[in-house]
Amino acid sequence: MIGTADGVRISITGLGCHVPERVVTNDELSTMMDTSDEWIRERTGIRERRIAAPEEALSDLCLPAAHQALEDAGIAGAEIDLIIVATVTPDMVFPSTGAILADELGAENAAAYDLSAGCTGFMYAVAQGYGMLAGGLAQKALVVGGDVLSKILDWSDRGTAVLFGDGAGAIVLERVADGGFLGFELGADGSGGPQLYLPGGGSRVPATEESVAERLHFVKMNGREVFKFATRVLVSSAESVLTECGLTIDDVDVYVPHQANVRIIEYARQKLGIPEEKTVIDVDRYGNTSSGSIPLALADAKTDGRLSSGKLVLMTGMGAGLTWGSGLIEWTDGGMG
Ligand code: ACO
Repeated sequence: MIGTADGVRISITGLGCHVPERVVTNDELSTMMDTSDEWIRERTGIRERRIAAPEEALSDLCLPAAHQALEDAGIAGAEIDLIIVATVTPDMVFPSTGAILADELGAENAAAYDLSAGCTGFMYAVAQGYGMLAGGLAQKALVVGGDVLSKILDWSDRGTAVLFGDGAGAIVLERVADGGFLGFELGADGSGGPQLYLPGGGSRVPATEESVAERLHFVKMNGREVFKFATRVLVSSAESVLTECGLTIDDVDVYVPHQANVRIIEYARQKLGIPEEKTVIDVDRYGNTSSGSIPLALADAKTDGRLSSGKLVLMTGMGAGLTWGSGLIEWTDGGMG
């Protein structure tokens, strides 16, 4: 799916994020499994990640992020009429974390649900929120991306356990007078699904003694294949959305790629021809937080003062599905109230 945002102008008017308190360094991981700080840093660029407490679930990370985003936008939870939570680690299968969050925020008039598109979830959710607002179905949307992947990792599999962390970010979408989203490109290739998946817990492999014993309720990944896929789609998706919007890579002021691995980001950055100083990287501190990755990186860029009115921001996500998605936004300060 590809298209330009030709209709009403819609932008991000509030931004917030939240990560668990506990920092787990590579050195700490190397006391738990056969790995080392050197290996993890060289292959991934990750130095540390945040890991949720045993009692901490996704909505516990989403709620503070949502409060920050609402405060940033200057609106109350009751004014929100659409909540989308992008995640693969909801509090539970149902009710949705979106509905739990709506209740916690007092968003009594909101449609609220979860969206599953792997690590691309946030980009899918933003595009969907854009569409709902552009179509006039909603006026003020809260889009949250977050995951607590530590709860679904196989901690005996060093090939996946060292890559991920927990975290969430939230944005408010509203109509604006100028600027805002310019276009989106989203895609999915289900034939690549078995490269990155969690087989258990759905209707195909329900929880039984056997499936639990076979560790089918944890993430499985073919790292090399995902690496190849990631480097390919980060480049092709970014190029597609720029071309569709009649822009070039030189027009981009801030590049916010999915934070999976510094080597993947470096490859895409160089192939696209985006200077290092325009590229946001925080995977060294958070690891891969899946749907939390892009909003966390946006929040980092905002804290650094990189996101100011008029800046062209390119976001590209990719992940399980296999899926990918890009969005282009001309950054704005505040909404129309
Ligand atoms: N510590 C030490 N050694 C390790 C570790 C570890 N944590 N993990 C693997 N190794 C070993 C392997 O066993 C292998 O040893 P061998 O040569 O004796 O067999 C060696 O390191 C090299 O393994 P490779 O898999 O070839 O290493 P590679 O350079 O490909 O890096 C990595 C592996 C980091 C997983 C890489 O493939 C990658 O980043 N893939 C993409 C993963 C990803 O980003 N997934 C998520 C994207 S989508 C989403 O966000 C959900």
